[in-house]
Amino acid sequence: MKLELRGVSKLFDGGPTPVHALRDIDLTVDQGEYVVITGPSGSGKSTLLSIIGCLEKPSAGTYKVGDVDVGALSDIQRSRMRAQTFGFVFQAFHLLPDKTALDNVMLPMTYGTSPKHTRRQRAFLLLERVGLGQRARFRPTQLSGGEQQRVAIARALANDPAVILADEPTGQLDSVHREMILTLLERLWTEGRTLIVVSHDPDIVRRAPRHVVLHDGRIKADTRIRDAASSEV
Ligand SMILES: Nc1ncnc2c1ncn2[C@@H]1O[C@H](COP(=O)(O)OP(=O)(O)OP(=O)(O)O)[C@@H](O)[C@H]1O
Ligand SMILES: [Mg+2]
Repeated sequence: MKLELRGVSKLFDGGPTPVHALRDIDLTVDQGEYVVITGPSGSGKSTLLSIIGCLEKPSAGTYKVGDVDVGALSDIQRSRMRAQTFGFVFQAFHLLPDKTALDNVMLPMTYGTSPKHTRRQRAFLLLERVGLGQRARFRPTQLSGGEQQRVAIARALANDPAVILADEPTGQLDSVHREMILTLLERLWTEGRTLIVVSHDPDIVRRAPRHVVLHDGRIKADTRIRDAASSEV
């Protein structure tokens, strides 16, 4: 799925003063790319991910996912596009505290039409995939930070998305868990998914083949480094 932003701006005018979070962004990401996004706090990184992931609409400009102009979609169509195409991994995991790991992973699947036992089985397989088959019945408070992040990754894979979006996915983790999460994300990329990560983690910045730098809502640099990703992934 090719992602194409043309002249995209985002103005937040609900706060005390209007904020131009993004200004005139031109960005094309081909299916299967691995892009890391950096930039100072407030430069628009999370806003850009929200627009790419169809959580927010641009205030101006066009955003196309494949052949579809996201701006022309109704809210329901946009939600469907989001659920089918994108998997989100957030810094703070965003797991529901009173639900088990299994239920958390099943949650996004309600958009699908498969019966509950099929969804349950798939959620269990995804938890096994991230090494947490033994923790399926645990609640987030009963899991370590690295385990919670792996549940969040399993949940992001619930609908087998073409694109994984991750916002500081290793921000709250120690180095051992960081490496585990990074390896897991990169494996999803080598399987053919697009991986877009907001991160200042030097390992991610070093390993990603493409590096986009934001400053004041604008793209300040967009660099491709051939063969940057580690070959042992
Ligand atoms: N819902 C909102 N309403 C008003 N302003 C907002 C809203 N969301 C973000 N902003 C503003 O938009 C700008 C960009 O925010 P964004 O969250 O994209 O930054 P960021 O690069 O992700 O920063 P950080 O590294 O701190 O996470 C900020 O100045 C922020 O205050
Ligand atoms: Mg942010």
